[in-house]
Amino acid sequence: MLAIIGGSGFARFPELEILHRQVVRTPFGEPSGPLTFGRLYGQPVVFIARHGYGHSLAPHEINYRANLWALKQQNVRGIVAIGSVGGIRPDLPPGTVVVPHDLIDYTWGRKHTVFEGVDKPVVHVDFTCPYDPALRHHLLAAAASAGLPVVDKAVYACTQGPRLETAAEIRRLERDGADIVGMTGMPEAALARELQIPYVHLCLVVNWAAGKGESRCTVTLRQDELGQPIETMVALIRTLLTEPN
Ligand code: HPA
Repeated sequence: MLAIIGGSGFARFPELEILHRQVVRTPFGEPSGPLTFGRLYGQPVVFIARHGYGHSLAPHEINYRANLWALKQQNVRGIVAIGSVGGIRPDLPPGTVVVPHDLIDYTWGRKHTVFEGVDKPVVHVDFTCPYDPALRHHLLAAAASAGLPVVDKAVYACTQGPRLETAAEIRRLERDGADIVGMTGMPEAALARELQIPYVHLCLVVNWAAGKGESRCTVTLRQDELGQPIETMVALIRTLLTEPN
């Protein structure tokens, strides 16, 4: 079964045929909400809304460990994590769908490992390639076979939020090599690696990062700009689920 973590704007998956919801308790407390089990295009999936179902959790308030632990208990074969981002690189304007291949973590103070406490071993997972190469390959192959405009490769910067960045901070991220910026990709990706769940990030650029666009920075796409990229993401997940790989 594939897991989908829904980000802002994706708190529910329109075409998901819901079978049941399950409240899961974990050693790390409560996930963002119950897991929603269902069928999407005939395939079993489990869905969780990262910010909670009423979008009540800010990026630094999300219990990433509980969310990932809860998904691990379902024996999911992989996670497609949807997130909205700001575009830094000039060829990544609002409306672009991007599958990053690498990341830089600027977050702080988040519970970022499941190996915590005196009774736990010290574990240093390999994170050279933070996203699962095989699942990334499947996702990009699905995009290619369906002819969907999806950008392969970007470096994702994860900032602490909840405020947006300053223009100088974005210039620094750019010098560091970042192409897109969001607030929720970490520690999610690292926890998935610790728990040995293949994880990919599917990002929608919703704004120009601070100082890159003409106007003030807001993180919502205008309604008329949203339709096409959301259709692309839905079609991508449909192809991933229904095409043999
Ligand atoms: N910065 C950080 N996180 C974001 C942005 C941004 O510009 N847009 C969407 N999430």
